[in-house]
Amino acid sequence: MAIRKIKEDIYSVGAIHWDRRLFDEIIPLPDGTSYNAYLIFGSEKTVLIDTVDPATENQLFENLKKFNDLKIDYVISNHAEQDHSGTIPKILKLFPDAKVVTNAKCKEFLIDLLHIEQERFIDIGDNETLSLGNKTLKFIFTPWVHWPETMSTYLVEDKILFSCDFFGSHLATSELFVNDKAKVYEAAKRYYAEIMMPFRNFIKGNTQKIEKLEIDIIAPSHGPIHKEPSFIIDAYKDWISENVKNQVLIPYVSMHGSTKIAVDYLVDKLIEKGITVIPFNITTGDIGELAINAVDAATIIIATPTVLAGPHPLAAFVTIFLNAIKPKTKFFGIITSYEWGGLTADWIKQHTTNLKSEFIDPVAIKGLPKSQNFASINALAEKIIEKHKALAII
Ligand code: FEO
Repeated sequence: MAIRKIKEDIYSVGAIHWDRRLFDEIIPLPDGTSYNAYLIFGSEKTVLIDTVDPATENQLFENLKKFNDLKIDYVISNHAEQDHSGTIPKILKLFPDAKVVTNAKCKEFLIDLLHIEQERFIDIGDNETLSLGNKTLKFIFTPWVHWPETMSTYLVEDKILFSCDFFGSHLATSELFVNDKAKVYEAAKRYYAEIMMPFRNFIKGNTQKIEKLEIDIIAPSHGPIHKEPSFIIDAYKDWISENVKNQVLIPYVSMHGSTKIAVDYLVDKLIEKGITVIPFNITTGDIGELAINAVDAATIIIATPTVLAGPHPLAAFVTIFLNAIKPKTKFFGIITSYEWGGLTADWIKQHTTNLKSEFIDPVAIKGLPKSQNFASINALAEKIIEKHKALAII
């Protein structure tokens, strides 16, 4: 990534990973990503905020080389995950006098994960400040966005919050600042859904905390920079709220068509009643799309055939995934098909204990759906409508 100036003496010097397509070996990145690192020149001290994923370290090194006689005094580590911290060891070699400034928990992680020597650290506490001369950094602990050690760094005089993953988006773009709001909104929502949603309650507290600051710019460590902080803060407030939408998300898999017939029937019934339905074919769908739609859906229905006495393995994966990302969905149900028995619904129920949703009686279909099965699906649709009406979202 080319060096981009944010304000006087403040530069974006990180990397764009245009063609990365998977994160954590599970999360699809349809739009690539970036690892934003920021260089700030104070009148007395120079600081680098976060680094980049080692796979793109050359972009950072080439950028730093372009500053004549660069001396880095401090490397701020807002988060120990390697996509931001992984290049710290090499930066410390290049700048042997530089110190890593971070909190005690992050220091512990960096020592474990990257074998950085203890003596290279300066520990800071919540709300502590660090002077760069004419500029001041203030460290704001924002734990569990999305690891326990995560923090943000606030540049007091310029009113910039360097929030690391918080408010970020996996989006490779040549635009430094948010321009295409719809695109950034979608990427940020995807990021929230996959990474942040399990920590919704922590995010509430952290959002309140950062809102006490006067912020002109939010500079995350993934995706474009927010010159209009309310755009992303308001989006987060909506996502973390208890509000759900009149939507039913139906992740399904079907081997010989029985489950698909049931899903299609339910989809049509719900559409007829004015409900937004998102059928999600697990075999071909992008798991990130599933996560995005789980953010707002009032109801989720998992539909699967019975395989070896339990759900189809792909449905089992989605069950575990949804349980892990903890959407705020209010109602949860199951459609299963089977021929000679099994404990599919029980297995799914047992593996969704993180969903604090009301469980709707499952629909079990033996063989191809027949009239009594369609009657059961009608009853399921009516139950969903009744529940959505009770929430006043219909
Ligand atoms: Fe972008 Fe949690 O690392």
